[in-house]
Amino acid sequence: MKVLVTGGSGFIGSNFIRHVLTAHPDDSVVNLDKLTYAGNPANLKDVERDPRYAFVHGDICDATLVRDVAQGVDAVINLAASTHVDRSLMEPDEFLRTDVFGVFTLLEAVKELKIPRLLHISTDEVYGSVERGSSRESDPLRPSNPYSASKAGGDLLALAYWQTHRTPVLITRSSNNFGPYQYPEKVVPLFITNALEDKPVPLYGDGRNVRDWLYVLDNCTAIDLVLRRGKDGQVYNIGGGHEVENLVLTRQILQLTGKPETLIQPVRDRPGHDRRYALDSKKVRQLGWAPRHRFGDALAATVAWYREHEAWWRPLKSGEFRAYYEKQYGNR
Ligand code: NAD
Ligand code: TYD
Repeated sequence: MKVLVTGGSGFIGSNFIRHVLTAHPDDSVVNLDKLTYAGNPANLKDVERDPRYAFVHGDICDATLVRDVAQGVDAVINLAASTHVDRSLMEPDEFLRTDVFGVFTLLEAVKELKIPRLLHISTDEVYGSVERGSSRESDPLRPSNPYSASKAGGDLLALAYWQTHRTPVLITRSSNNFGPYQYPEKVVPLFITNALEDKPVPLYGDGRNVRDWLYVLDNCTAIDLVLRRGKDGQVYNIGGGHEVENLVLTRQILQLTGKPETLIQPVRDRPGHDRRYALDSKKVRQLGWAPRHRFGDALAATVAWYREHEAWWRPLKSGEFRAYYEKQYGNR
C-alpha cells in the first residue's frame, strides 16, 4: 500500500509513520507537512533514509500541491492540523484554515483523483464536555472552543462528502494521547520537562478536569486497523479507557520525575475549559482493537523517554515556545 500521510512530522504523525514502516514492510509513505512550530524533521530522523519514505514540504490548503502529491496513492491519512486549545483561544485563524479548509482541499483531491480511501483523524473534543457516561459516534457534536469547533467543522464536511458524493472517507476520534515526540506545550510533556528543569507546573483551575489517556502507540495500531478494516462513511472512537483527574496525573508525573509536589502551581483556569471527555470505544474494539499498554507503564516509559531525549526537547523550549509560554502563563 502507498499512503500519503499529512502532518507526519508532528507527534502522532511521526509515531504513525514509524509504525507503518515497521508493521508493513511492503508499504511506502509520503509525508506532506508544512513544518509549523509543531512539525519537526527530527521526529523522523531514523526513517529519513528509508527508501520507502519520502518527505514533501507543503500545506494541505494548497490544492495544486495536494493533487500532485496524492496522485497514485492508495490512501490518504490526514493528521495535519492546528492542535493546541490554548493557542486556538489566542489565534484561531490558522485553526479554521487548516482544520476546515485543509480538510476540504483533501476531500476534493480524493474525490477528483478517485483515491480509494481518506482516513481523517479527529478528536473526542468535538463532543464537548461530558459530565456523565461516554460519547458514542452518533452523539451530537457540541464543541466548546475554536480548536474543537474547527475539528467538528472538518468532521461534518467529511461526512457530507460521503453522503453527497460517496467520497470514501472514514474518521477516527481519539482521546488525549501521550508518548514520545509530543511538543512540550501539551500537558504531559510540559509537566515532565518543567519538572526535569525544576520549574513550576501550571495546573489550571481546581485540577479536577478529567481526560481519558491513550498511549500514542495504541492510537497508531487503532488508526492502522481502521485504515485497513474500517467501513467507508463511518466514525470510530478510540478511547484509552483510563480516565484521570489532572491533579492525579500531575502527582504521578512529579513522582516519576522524583520532584516535590511544591512544584505544582495553581493558575487561572482556561476559559471554556471542558470538564471531562470520555469515549465509548465499542465500535473500534469490534474491529479487533484494544490498547496494549497499561497507563502506569506507558507514563513511566514516557517520562524515561523525555529524560533520555533532552537534546530533542531543549531546543523546542526556547525561541517560539518561550514567547508563547510567557504570553500564555505570564498572566495566569
Ligand atoms: P501536532 O500539533 O503534534 O502535529 C500537527 C502536524 O501538522 C505538524 O507536523 C504540523 O507541521 C502539521 N501541519 C499543521 N498545519 C498544516 C498544514 N496546513 N499543512 C500541512 N501540515 C500542517 O498534532 P498531533 O497531536 O500529532 O495531532 C494530529 C491529529 O490528531 C490532529 O488532527 C489532532 O486533532 C488529532 N488528535 C490529537 C490528539 C492528541 O492528544 N495529540 C488527540 C486526539 C486527536
Ligand atoms: P492539553 O494537553 O492542552 O490537552 P486538551 O486540552 O486538548 O485536553 O490539556 C490536558 C488537560 O490539562 C486539560 O484539562 C488542561 C490541563 N492543562 C493544565 O492544567 N495546565 C497546562 O499547562 C496545560 C497545557 C493543560
